[in-house]
Amino acid sequence: MGHVPNIDLTTDVAIPQLGFGVFQVPPAETKEAVATALRVGYRSIDTAAIYGNERQVGEAIAESGIARDELFITTKLWNSEQGYDTTLAAFDASMEKLGLEQLDLYLIHWPVPERDHYLDTWRAFEKLHADGRVRAIGVSNFTEEHLQRLMDSADVKPAINQVELHPRFQQSKLRAFHAEHGIATEAWGPLGQGTLLDHPVLSKIAEKHGRSTAQVMIRWHLQIGNVVIPKSVTPARIEQNFAVFDFELDGEDLDAIASLDDENGRIGPDPTTFNVV
Ligand SMILES: NC(=O)c1ccc[n+]([C@@H]2O[C@H](COP(=O)([O-])OP(=O)(O)OC[C@H]3O[C@@H](n4cnc5c(N)ncnc54)[C@H](OP(=O)(O)O)[C@@H]3O)[C@@H](O)[C@H]2O)c1
Repeated sequence: MGHVPNIDLTTDVAIPQLGFGVFQVPPAETKEAVATALRVGYRSIDTAAIYGNERQVGEAIAESGIARDELFITTKLWNSEQGYDTTLAAFDASMEKLGLEQLDLYLIHWPVPERDHYLDTWRAFEKLHADGRVRAIGVSNFTEEHLQRLMDSADVKPAINQVELHPRFQQSKLRAFHAEHGIATEAWGPLGQGTLLDHPVLSKIAEKHGRSTAQVMIRWHLQIGNVVIPKSVTPARIEQNFAVFDFELDGEDLDAIASLDDENGRIGPDPTTFNVV
């Protein structure tokens, strides 16, 4: 299963470009879903403290028998724990649940500008990184403004920004900013959280290639350079979403998908105002 390309995050850390997300996977179903994904060949798993399923992700990892250095595990710091000391404690709690000695990627889940703790939080991230407890550190749902402010005071630049990104909300400007600053782009809600599966433009492309619309969307993410982490609890879909390395979208397909972009296409919360803790 060596066919998933890697994206470099730092000089010595690379993330598989296709991974498996577990948002809204109930804890009771998480171990089985992650075990299925690992059997299919996924090696990167994306969870978060707030998902409430880190322990079950850890159990699936432990029982998989897969060598630790073949896996890439991401978790995220929840908003209520932002701040220097609270971040260090929250990291320990996540690691205990995951049953890991070292994490591959730790993300600030949301900037929550209203509370304005993300600079202190980042100092704790830099300490965890310097201490070797996490191999790479990044952010999620940061806008250009949040990223610039962070980089202005940071010693370590965020390696990645995980943001809502799908054919209806393509984030071209933010992606260009990432490229300019050497920050990888990771797409959450890569299938539009299921809302784009019947889109006629995507259906036409899918038909042309004899694929599903989900596969077309995942292929699009891969071809434009995103790290992508589709979620499914359905074994056949988990498998299907991984079978995307034996076809390619052509220029016409990419142009058609580019035309679906809509500046009002956001499905999730707006990071400039989201303040749930
Ligand atoms: N950083 C953040 O703030 C943030 C926010 C949201 C998500 N995320 C991360 O991103 C990951 C992916 O995003 P997401 O879970 O929100 O949405 P998504 O991956 O875009 O969509 C998931 C939905 O699509 C369905 N689906 C998946 N594959 C399919 C297929 N081949 N055919 C038909 N339906 C399919 C799933 O159904 P079934 O499960 O029923 O099969 C589920 O309803 C999350 O799991 C999480 O790790 C991060």
